[in-house]
Amino acid sequence: MRKIKNLNLRNRIFLAPMEQVNDIVFRLLCKKAGAGITFTPMIHPLTKQKIILDDKPILQLFTSNLNGIKEFIKKYDKKVSGWDFNLGCPAKTAERQGFGVFLHPKLKTIEKILKEIRASTKKPFSIKLRKSRYALKIVLIANKYCDVIIIHPRTQKQGYSGEPDISFARKLRESTNLPVVYSGDVNEMNYKELLKEFDYIMIGRKAIGNPNLFSILTNKKIKKITFEDYLKLAKKYNIPFKQIKFQALNFTKGMKNSANLRNKISKLKTLKEILSFYQKNSLI
Ligand SMILES: Cc1cc2nc3c(=O)[nH]c(=O)nc-3n(C[C@H](O)[C@H](O)[C@H](O)COP(=O)(O)O)c2cc1C
Repeated sequence: MRKIKNLNLRNRIFLAPMEQVNDIVFRLLCKKAGAGITFTPMIHPLTKQKIILDDKPILQLFTSNLNGIKEFIKKYDKKVSGWDFNLGCPAKTAERQGFGVFLHPKLKTIEKILKEIRASTKKPFSIKLRKSRYALKIVLIANKYCDVIIIHPRTQKQGYSGEPDISFARKLRESTNLPVVYSGDVNEMNYKELLKEFDYIMIGRKAIGNPNLFSILTNKKIKKITFEDYLKLAKKYNIPFKQIKFQALNFTKGMKNSANLRNKISKLKTLKEILSFYQKNSLI
């Protein structure tokens, strides 16, 4: 097993970066449940949005050029455990703006960006990439600047469905001496096997609405986390109503009758209504 230098980790199971899902409260709950470390959603260095980093996460950057990287890292470097660069986003906006997986063919630009991030921080620095015909070439560049490689071995075309290509992830690990984090359909059934082959693993969709998964996988004994825990912290952190409702829907996952519950929750209009709905239905 290869260790990530300069990073104190409780275990080898991480919360994967997820847009919209990984707000500060959700990340804090996953960490409390046992996640080895948390990742922010992808964030652009020129963002005006306020960023709260109380969980000391890895902050994931996305961009297609050098604008603002140095200043952004300087501003937040003390508050994060490390930095990650997104080379995986398959979305239409990524295609239009030329970031994520759409940056892969531009190896020179990638090298400039990695160099800039490396020069801006001493903290651990990773790239997270998808499978593509450029991926192994990108790893050769990353070997010069990065401390970790994260691989989600699906292509841009696959998006989030179809089989992740684990043999591609293996091949990628063989092509570098850096620690490799595996991402893609990690679950309760396969995590032990994956931890034998890869240095670290991360969990995305299976953790949505279910931070307790980390306590199960890491054998951490904690009081079961419920939506009430989310609500309490949501008040503290001023999470907008729309986001709270989104998480309320997520937390019905795995409950009996969840389709019906979701349908009802989607019609609720205030925080009070959400809380009393959850209480009336004994969901918290
Ligand atoms: C809703 C959602 C949002 C995501 N946002 C990001 C993101 O911002 N940055 C990133 O690198 N990957 C993102 N991903 C990809 C995940 O980090 C992960 O690599 C992928 O979902 C495969 O893992 P899983 O099967 O455990 O979900 C996102 C995935 C989902 C489902």
